[in-house]
Amino acid sequence: MAPVTSLTDLVNQRLTDALVSALPETDGADPLLRRSDRADFQANGILALAKKAKANPRELATKVVGDIVTGDVIKDVEVSGPGFLNVTVADRAITETLAARAADDRLGVPLKENPGVTVIDYAQPNVAKEMHVGHLRSAVIGDALRHMLDFTGERTIGRHHIGDWGTQFGMLIQYLIENPGELAPPSEVDGAEAMSNLNRVYKASRAVFDADDDFKERARKRVVALQSGDEETLKLWQQFVDESKVYFYSVFEKLDMEIRDEEIVGESAYNDGMPETARLLEEMGVAVRSEGALVVFFDDIRGKDDQPVPLIVQKADGGFGYAASDLTAIRNRVGELDATTLLYVVDVRQSLHFKMVFETARRAGWLNENVTAHNMGYGTVLGADGKPFKTREGETVKLEDLLDEAVQRAAEVVREKAQDLTEEEIQERAAQVGIGAVKYADLSTSPSRDYKFDLDQMVSLNGDTSVYLQYAYARIQSILRKAGEAKPVAHPELELVAAERALGLHLDAFGTTVFEAAAEYAPHKVAAYLYQLASLYTAFYDKCPVLKADTEEQKENRLFLCDLTARTLHQGMALLGIRTPERL
Ligand code: ARG
Repeated sequence: MAPVTSLTDLVNQRLTDALVSALPETDGADPLLRRSDRADFQANGILALAKKAKANPRELATKVVGDIVTGDVIKDVEVSGPGFLNVTVADRAITETLAARAADDRLGVPLKENPGVTVIDYAQPNVAKEMHVGHLRSAVIGDALRHMLDFTGERTIGRHHIGDWGTQFGMLIQYLIENPGELAPPSEVDGAEAMSNLNRVYKASRAVFDADDDFKERARKRVVALQSGDEETLKLWQQFVDESKVYFYSVFEKLDMEIRDEEIVGESAYNDGMPETARLLEEMGVAVRSEGALVVFFDDIRGKDDQPVPLIVQKADGGFGYAASDLTAIRNRVGELDATTLLYVVDVRQSLHFKMVFETARRAGWLNENVTAHNMGYGTVLGADGKPFKTREGETVKLEDLLDEAVQRAAEVVREKAQDLTEEEIQERAAQVGIGAVKYADLSTSPSRDYKFDLDQMVSLNGDTSVYLQYAYARIQSILRKAGEAKPVAHPELELVAAERALGLHLDAFGTTVFEAAAEYAPHKVAAYLYQLASLYTAFYDKCPVLKADTEEQKENRLFLCDLTARTLHQGMALLGIRTPERL
């Protein structure tokens, strides 16, 4: 592995050096280098520095220019306007830098120097319940963040905090005891059967529960048996969990997402630790007794009538709930998993819960300067009408239905374009295109914002869609196949035209973009980068004949640019959890 210093960093270094020799007190000041349309880069930082030093900006800029080492990296630098610098990079430097990237598996992207451990809580459906559109974003965003963090060298541990505990299990289990055989053994069902069994049991038990007071009483006693660890009850509870997992896995597979069994650690996993959590919080005085319950108060969290809203650690009847499981999970993730960062990808509607949980954990010292917690609250998926996404009947949309529809729509697009694909290949591509479209639509919007689930737009070949990127990738593969004997080879001695330079400089910025996006938990920055990459490639392809280039060297060099673009697209899409088929 050989990390490559980006041209931006090299130019930045040269400018900083020149700045220091022109004006020693600027030591380390940022020249504010940006990509620019006029030259390759523009540095805007001198204006502010001159102002601070009470110097004339144009004079300072001219002095800096005189001190800049030109030749190998910087070909040309000039003062423009009131004191900007326009920097042009040498063609040779571009091609040589890209060649160094191409020679490396990681495209020259370095690994973090001091990686931490991020425990990422994402993709957390609920047992015995259907997954709906609301579960989509946590899974998609969490998976992408995880790929991105992993790529930077951070160690990640996944936690799927599934909802697998609660009073509703009393009703479900009691029903199953009275109607044995209603749930088939998990090994005998597929995902769809598992869910339809669970749905049937859920509906039937609900109906008896609502109609029959005696059953209600038996169900209530069953909750007590479950909580006290009664063996038979636990066994049946486990059957609900296992049956649900069969279903979860089938949906995650459809989503083309790898979920590891040992990372499915639901609410119930923290049951044993909850009494201790409560005891510690009470002993430390972080939690107090109020009307029998154990609660935590916050100065800045108030409800109606300015009444403080507490976090309930333990209810007056002794029971524990969602907060206690999350607090205990924090102790586990920090104490046992050695997390340095706790990341939660959970609907923004739970942000108050996390605010209270984090603050409580801080007061208890479980979160401190060595461990930070962050809730990536994400927005709502909206229908094409701009309202929260519902079926025509006004019900929540099942995640599977939505994915199936996306794949179906994608199949139409693929079929229309495909000339040499078999029906089987069309179906395989349709899954990659359709699921990619769903993920990309989600990831290309800033997570905090709502977005519209609009399939027509999502599978469109024009515009900021995954299909557009997948086509760019497949087109490059087709060119590489057609090139036959001609191979991608970098030729640093060649001059580059504007479209080649623009593409090259963008390719060089991949690593910087990924690091920035990972640090900010911003997958949409990776998406925006890739979209621009595909657009710059299209511009390059329009202007620069590849297979019909003027000389053999030029052809090889352009094939080299094509190949590196493809590899960067492939890697970038993989970070978003999206496939890039070789043919489309
Ligand atoms: N299962 C929960 C739900 O569907 C989300 C769990 C989020 N994670 C957590 N640690 N609380 O609402």
